[in-house]
Amino acid sequence: MTTETPPSPAAGSTLPAAPRIFSGIQPSGAPHIGNDLGAIRNYVALQDRYEAIYCIVDYHALTSTHDPEMLRQRTREMSAALLALGLDPERCTLFVQSHRPEVTELAWLFTTVTPVAWLQRTPTYKEKRQNQPEDVNHGLLTYPVLQAADIVLYKASLVPVGKDQAAHLELTREIVRAFNGRYGETFPEPQAVHTEAPVVLGTDGARKMSKSLGNTIEIFAEPETIRRQVMSMVTDTQRILRSDQGRPEVCNVCRLHRFFGDDYEEIWDGERTARTGCVDTKKLLAERIIARYAEPRERYLELMADPTRVERVLAEGAERIRPIARATMDEVHARMGLR
Ligand code: AMP
Ligand code: TRP
Repeated sequence: MTTETPPSPAAGSTLPAAPRIFSGIQPSGAPHIGNDLGAIRNYVALQDRYEAIYCIVDYHALTSTHDPEMLRQRTREMSAALLALGLDPERCTLFVQSHRPEVTELAWLFTTVTPVAWLQRTPTYKEKRQNQPEDVNHGLLTYPVLQAADIVLYKASLVPVGKDQAAHLELTREIVRAFNGRYGETFPEPQAVHTEAPVVLGTDGARKMSKSLGNTIEIFAEPETIRRQVMSMVTDTQRILRSDQGRPEVCNVCRLHRFFGDDYEEIWDGERTARTGCVDTKKLLAERIIARYAEPRERYLELMADPTRVERVLAEGAERIRPIARATMDEVHARMGLR
């Protein structure tokens, strides 16, 4: 893992004894390899080193998903996926955002220390305005305030996320500074924690892998689908003929090989010398991705077939962190002059 700067505990407030980590993920169905390489593998690694809290952010999803049954189904899928990929309810807390509704109150309180201009200049807000011009709802603007509340309700100081969350994390820090400045040191300023693959490009080789862009390789898809998605990947666009030498450092297929085997240098060398062609390299990558996720995929299917087991984990998770949420809200009420 890599952090941008070391965590800085806020002096004089009731902070957890050891650094606490928090991350949220949208219930966008089953995850893609960008989610895993950019974030989820760090969730798994960090659960042994810190007190870890992970959340499926259904309130956030409502800014774009308006079909209740779809939201419920996607929340189930993401919960099963995280457990299948290695989150262990004995070693971390997994819960659904709306099951711990204190966060909405904290988000409201945070709106009163957040200038509208900060929210209007957030890159994701600008993007969403373009992507869904018929639905520029208020939740889209306030989205980062709710994200800040997610993190600091539990006084987390480390946040494992992909690079695309950098602006949101910076805004969280600004909101924390604004709150602490007005009401006294209450919250730590959280730091992002990135993996070795903070930005995974999609099958188009140009934009970040994202479900909404339709350029994903899905972790739990049927092997045939994974093969089709990998075979559709754009490689080094300057390598036209099979005999042309490749440039593995700009080829997305080659870059991904780094995370699916320890022989990537050999694979890169094969491309460089035109000993291997792009098709060979893609076929190998597809088989490795399928093999890597074969066991998690079985666990995923088992969990999807046993919804009560997953629901129990989520209910216990939300219950376990209730005292932390209550203690933070009591402190915030006292500081702000409420109750
Ligand atoms: P989302 O599905 O947008 O909620 O993302 C869940 C987590 O995966 C966040 O921490 C993102 O930063 C991370 N993530 C999503 N897409 C990518 C990607 N293409 N590369 C690296 N990390 C990603
Ligand atoms: N905005 C994040 C994403 O789209 C999801 C998220 C919500 C989050 N709350 C969070 C991430 C708190 C980290 C911490 O991926």
